[in-house]
Amino acid sequence: MHGIAVLGAGRIGRIHAANAMAHPLISLKYVVDPIDAAANELATTTGATVATLDQVFGDPTIGGVVVASSTDTHLEFSMRAVDAGKAVFCEKPLDLDLATARSAASSLGSGNARFFLGFNRRFDSNFRGLHQQIHSGEMGALETLHIVSHDPAPPPIDYVKVSGGMFKDMTIHDFDMARWLLGEDPVEVYSAATSVVDPAIGEAGDVDTAKIILRTGRGRICVISNSRRSGYGYDQRIEAFCSKGLLRAGNVLSSTVEAWGESGSSSGPLQNFFLDRYAGAYRAEMDHFAEVLGGISQPKIGYGDGIAALAIAEAAMESHRSSAVVEIRY
Ligand SMILES: NC(=O)c1ccc[n+]([C@@H]2O[C@H](COP(=O)([O-])OP(=O)(O)OC[C@H]3O[C@@H](n4cnc5c(N)ncnc54)[C@H](O)[C@@H]3O)[C@@H](O)[C@H]2O)c1
Repeated sequence: MHGIAVLGAGRIGRIHAANAMAHPLISLKYVVDPIDAAANELATTTGATVATLDQVFGDPTIGGVVVASSTDTHLEFSMRAVDAGKAVFCEKPLDLDLATARSAASSLGSGNARFFLGFNRRFDSNFRGLHQQIHSGEMGALETLHIVSHDPAPPPIDYVKVSGGMFKDMTIHDFDMARWLLGEDPVEVYSAATSVVDPAIGEAGDVDTAKIILRTGRGRICVISNSRRSGYGYDQRIEAFCSKGLLRAGNVLSSTVEAWGESGSSSGPLQNFFLDRYAGAYRAEMDHFAEVLGGISQPKIGYGDGIAALAIAEAAMESHRSSAVVEIRY
């Protein structure tokens, strides 16, 4: 059994803690969170012990940590864990600032670091299937990509203020999907973004809606559509236009029951949000972390992927501000 600790007992920390607890090769020993009520509640439901960071990093029975705390802690906690010889499963994004994230290269980017960055969509079975089919070449060469990623409703404004902005908080997933599916890094970006969903988001200096165009060195194009509000559930679709046809991963509905009548047809709603839509992906991430802890797999997503996604996010932000096409500097 691999002893681990979960740092951060919020929305995603609770998911990872439950998956760790259910995993046959992982023992969840500690939970860390400065909010006592959050830490205590998670410890009670999982059977773990509330601990401090020093306890976690100083305990030789802890093989790894899950960094599920607020984004501004990711880099520091991950570097401390690597220094202490622990494997790390860190939530996205790597950091709020690209230059700061780059300064961790000698630690998190070193060959010895077991650092796994949780871009969970790569572990979704539908998107994995899409990736496999694109790269099998059966549909010919991938030419353009459409990624639709719309949340059901905006997050609380307090979250928006510390999130680093929509590009680094939300679109970062789509930037990673674009790199992974295209199999190459985009070289330039143009983004048009606005705040039409909630004026408070605009007042906080952020955007809630965007259309982003990425172009790769081989001349291929990816269009990303983002909104913080759909009104119809969690819209997560990808279309890959290839030289011989189209590959498409559609939405996952909350039910397969459909009604067909004289007036038309109807089906169940889309799954509501990420906790439902990506439940299987989060479990698959924990399976992968167990392999990393056991030394039978290298992290499938690492520091370099986190830097690349942040570089695209900062260039997309610059494009939004300048209304110009921006070269992406990795
Ligand atoms: N991959 C995904 O699908 C996904 C989904 C949601 C959130 N996230 C990421 O996970 C992180 C957490 O998001 P969330 O939605 O769970 O937020 P949240 O606000 O619900 O939870 C964050 C928790 O971290 C705790 N925390 C803050 N400082 C800490 C510290 N010094 N030590 C330990 N704990 C600390 C907070 O008290 C809070 O309980 C963010 O970086 C977010 O981008 C990823």
